[in-house]
Amino acid sequence: MVHTSPYPTPLFFFLLIVSLVALSEGWSVYIRNDLKSDLLTILCKSEDNHLGMQVLNYERELNFPIEAMSPTTFTCTMDWNGRLHKLDVFNSKRDGKVGRDLKWSIQNDRPCLLNSSTNKYDLCNYSYN
Ligand SMILES: *[C@@H]1O[C@H](CO)[C@@H](O)[C@H](O)[C@H]1NC(C)=O
Ligand SMILES: *[C@@H]1O[C@H](CO)[C@@H](O)[C@H](O)[C@H]1NC(C)=O
Repeated sequence: MVHTSPYPTPLFFFLLIVSLVALSEGWSVYIRNDLKSDLLTILCKSEDNHLGMQVLNYERELNFPIEAMSPTTFTCTMDWNGRLHKLDVFNSKRDGKVGRDLKWSIQNDRPCLLNSSTNKYDLCNYSYN
């Protein structure tokens, strides 16, 4: 027998919670050392979050999640070849629509993002500060 209730069913609440959790999942940031011959020393932080310093060998990648409940920017300070390079790896204004993964390739002259359609790091219109 089909019973139609005027009240939301437990299933409705279950589905609502599942979709809210999915919406708040946030982004994943990947940062890959493509510097060929250099170690990449990297320190990333946001207004209220601080990831420890890490050292990446060539072709190694670091990954961290971002749950952006409020507008935020994650900036990484990177050191190679005796010089500092800064990059906003995540900016909720800039990246709010990009999707759930931001995959950076750190190269000498500029950083590039992975284009998921081509599966290549061909989005290179970025620069270090
Ligand atoms: C990714 O590459 C495809 C195919 O070349 C291109 O059409 C698309 O605009 C690129 N994505 C972005 C975000 O530029
Ligand atoms: C590259 O980025 C700059 C500034 O963000 C923008 O003005 C310019 O149109 C972009 N060039 C291309 C080819 O997307």
